[in-house]
Amino acid sequence: MRINPETELFGIIGYPLSHSLSPMIHNRAFEESKINAIYLYLPCRDIKGVVPGMKSLSIKGLSVTIPHKEGICQHVDELDPLAEEIGAVNTLLNRDGHVVGYNTDAYGAIMPLKKELGSIKGRRVLVIGAGGAARAICFALKKEEAEITIVNRTKKRGQRLAQEIGARFYPLSEISNRGFDIIIQATSVGMYPDVDKMPVSKEILYPDAIVMDIVYNPLETRFLKEAKKIGCKVVPGIEMFIYQGVRQFELWTGRDAPIDIMRSTAISYLKGKEGEKGEKA
Ligand code: ATR
Repeated sequence: MRINPETELFGIIGYPLSHSLSPMIHNRAFEESKINAIYLYLPCRDIKGVVPGMKSLSIKGLSVTIPHKEGICQHVDELDPLAEEIGAVNTLLNRDGHVVGYNTDAYGAIMPLKKELGSIKGRRVLVIGAGGAARAICFALKKEEAEITIVNRTKKRGQRLAQEIGARFYPLSEISNRGFDIIIQATSVGMYPDVDKMPVSKEILYPDAIVMDIVYNPLETRFLKEAKKIGCKVVPGIEMFIYQGVRQFELWTGRDAPIDIMRSTAISYLKGKEGEKGEKA
């Protein structure tokens, strides 16, 4: 790789910055697409300085991760409408000194489902969980006009999200097989090292459902294994991660992302590392 005055700078900000697959997939995608750019880990505590810093240093784009996804919203020059609705940004784009905040987690969750089903309009979707990831997924589903049911361990949190998006809510303990087209596991349960755990019993699964998990280490969670056993179509968490990265790449470069290369880079890395660290999309 050659670095010269034209090399564009990208990175990921968060604190503390734990291991992320984003530098791997983006640097590989730049290389594959022959784009003169580099993507770095940029640990960052002071989010107030991020947007001025991007402008001053001509940083073209940033991924935003824990704990800054919500806090950064008030510092950008413009918020994409979906990011504004969700109240969280995972992507910044510096458009000639004008910094826009986007949420590509939402796109990441929807695209693999659209790939399976075409449209998800009117589909009955069960979302397990009501944390940050579930929130982005729910707003994206709402935009696609899916019929959403949320279950969550903590009633208040689940009810709040359900109310915001106009979904049904049940406590996790009252979950039952209600004939959903899609079941999305959006909690951290099942992540390494607790690979035998599931947030709900396997009895709620049935063969016609498409089952998606946001956890991507292990690449196949116990929840997905159980779903596969009874014949469900499954969407592994790595797909959500890949598609959020694909959308970032497109926003930053204006080019189509080399998705197959990004996916194989992430999967081969995780296969080598499987079991070392907990990660989810
Ligand atoms: P993230 O932003 O990554 O989604 P989060 O905001 O901490 O993380 O949310 C985690 C989600 O996993 C929540 O829905 C949480 O349920 P609570 O609202 O009851 O905390 C859910 N979760 C975490 N551990 C769980 C467990 N052992 N059983 C069931 N749900 C769990």
